[in-house]
Amino acid sequence: MAPRPPNHRKILVTSALPYANGPIHLGHLVEYIQTDIWVRFQKLRGHTCHYVCADDAHGTPIMLRAQSEGIAPETLIARIGDDHRADFAEFLIGFDNYHSTHSDENRELASLIYTRLRDAGHIATRTITQAYDPVKEMFLPDRFIKGECPRCGAADQYGDSCEVCGATYSPTELKNAVSAISGAKPIEKESLHYFFKLGQFEQLLRNWTAAGHLQTEVANKLGEWFTDGLKEWDISRDAPYFGFEIPGAEGKYFYVWLDAPIGYMASFKNLCDRSGLDFDEYWQKGSETELYHFIGKDIIYFHALFWPAMLHGANFRMPTAINAHGFLTVNGQKMSKSRGTFIQARTYLDHLNPEYLRYYFAAKLGASIDDLDLNLDDFQLRVNADLVGKVVNIASRCAGFISKRFHGHLSKTCAEIDLYDTFVRSGEEIAGLYEKREFGQAMREIMTLADKANQYIDEKKPWALAKQDGQEQTVQEVCSVGLNLFRVLMTYLKPVLPRMAEQTEHFLGIEPMTWVNLTAPLTGHTIRTYEPLMMRVDPNAVTAMQDASKESLAPTAVPAAPTALASSPVAPEIGPLITIDDFGKIDLRIARIVKAEHVDGADKLLHLTLDIGGETRSVFAGIKSAYTPEDLEGRLTVMVANLAPRKMKFGLSEGMVLAAGPGGKDLFILNPDSGAQPGMRVK
Ligand code: MSP
Ligand code: ZN
Repeated sequence: MAPRPPNHRKILVTSALPYANGPIHLGHLVEYIQTDIWVRFQKLRGHTCHYVCADDAHGTPIMLRAQSEGIAPETLIARIGDDHRADFAEFLIGFDNYHSTHSDENRELASLIYTRLRDAGHIATRTITQAYDPVKEMFLPDRFIKGECPRCGAADQYGDSCEVCGATYSPTELKNAVSAISGAKPIEKESLHYFFKLGQFEQLLRNWTAAGHLQTEVANKLGEWFTDGLKEWDISRDAPYFGFEIPGAEGKYFYVWLDAPIGYMASFKNLCDRSGLDFDEYWQKGSETELYHFIGKDIIYFHALFWPAMLHGANFRMPTAINAHGFLTVNGQKMSKSRGTFIQARTYLDHLNPEYLRYYFAAKLGASIDDLDLNLDDFQLRVNADLVGKVVNIASRCAGFISKRFHGHLSKTCAEIDLYDTFVRSGEEIAGLYEKREFGQAMREIMTLADKANQYIDEKKPWALAKQDGQEQTVQEVCSVGLNLFRVLMTYLKPVLPRMAEQTEHFLGIEPMTWVNLTAPLTGHTIRTYEPLMMRVDPNAVTAMQDASKESLAPTAVPAAPTALASSPVAPEIGPLITIDDFGKIDLRIARIVKAEHVDGADKLLHLTLDIGGETRSVFAGIKSAYTPEDLEGRLTVMVANLAPRKMKFGLSEGMVLAAGPGGKDLFILNPDSGAQPGMRVK
């Protein structure tokens, strides 16, 4: 922990709560990586900073998905919550607490805020008419109604907008509308709803949004919304709904977006109760602590209007700032399953080092809401050139000499104290850039310093000096300067590359690096033997990651989830169309599982040895949630025999077995009828 600076701050930071109905993907990670870097930076500067998040567990899509899997919503959100936590941990997202909106703390806080708003006269009730599914016996959110576009006539359009002509409309205008859940024709039905009177906060919000709590572009956008007028916000939903029942309103539930931001408070409350932190110090009106919400630009309305108004109306403090970011595209386009660019966090982790992506995003991120692109070629070039070619290169060029010739001892004095001081002085500018979330600029500053360090080594040429007599001391001095500069650079990169920084601390044999303990260089100090800190990006791994993202038949433990409501809410999304010729290329064979083994370090995979009639294949299959190795040995299954071998983290996979089912325990390796023989073609 860094020592407390004189201007010590107390900061609470959140990232948006990911929905508990699908896996984390690289788009989400823009946000969690951005927030994590900022939080780690604050901690390294000696400030008190708490970073909390949670799964957003309520709402219709989660309820329907649980039903379609035949499980309780609580079971679904527990499973997805575990997956989310594991993904975040491996991407080194250092939450101080990760909770759920389906928690006691959230129920209590949501009730408290609602009753305070109600008692202060900010809630209205009135009856509205809505589409209702008479078969499923539930009201239908717009996105669960399909029909023909009232403007262009395109079939199969959802209830609020047409993907073909871009028209927006209300679901009642759709022609031949049907429920996307049951297929039944919706009827109109009345129901009493609860509304938050946002208009009562107009003056407050006009002042607040103009007072520097928002990025300029965001404040301008809100200007348009004020012009359109602040409408009352419908905060209730009828049963059946997975959420919290509204106090004093039987059969009515809080709309998911009512209790979602309260989940920030609930997660922090949960942390306070475990750690003795003071909840009120951070949330009471007039609090002197700082509160930041990092979010994507799609959810600004909720965070910059509803949320501050709710907080104020319920007598809590308002946020210090809302930090919005843009959307991720991959190779210049919206992420797409058919192009293999809809990359899940887990798929990335199966193939590549998480710190590559942390660095790449850092290099691309600024404080604006512009979209950012992950170009996979640029990604490799950038990581290789900057991290491997510039930064790691400094250490690897200097460490060998120090180990081999000087028993790991650095020189007794720093031979280039001016150069060293220049590096240290740059720290304030770099810190200023981190503070403003101008991470891309910060990375450029750091790489400019790395260039300087490499130039210094190039000029001194320790490898040449080492061959000359009487130059021993100079070799030691030059390499010691190099390693000291490397240490400064790794301190600056520590918010982005926490694992590599830790390895550096081990290698240099030093206390955790912080901005303040840079003032003096390491002298007369002993370091450990250097071990490679980062490898170049393997281009085959990038290709394999894209291939794995394309495989719609891949037996993943979590089925392809409707990631946006635009896809069918009940069945997993159907993959891109293939022609009969494409299908003809797939060589399906009966295979006998001759051996099944656990894979060290993999929680989803089993390693299968398959006999396809004289030939054996080694395949890694994500079916561990459903089978033990003993269940499988000796059984028959169907495999894709002509799939190009894929290099995975754990070895080469030479094919794929077919499995079906929602996932978890219910994942079925097809069991061919008796009479089948290994090697038989499946038609
Ligand atoms: N559950 C709501 C947030 C509630 S906060 C009280 C939600 N969840 S989400 O899973 O859809 O998105 C979580 C965050 O990830 C959001 O801030 C969203 O903007 C961000 N992103 C999701 N896809 C993204 C990209 N493709 N690119 C960048 N950010 C993206 O919204
Ligand atoms: Zn249309």
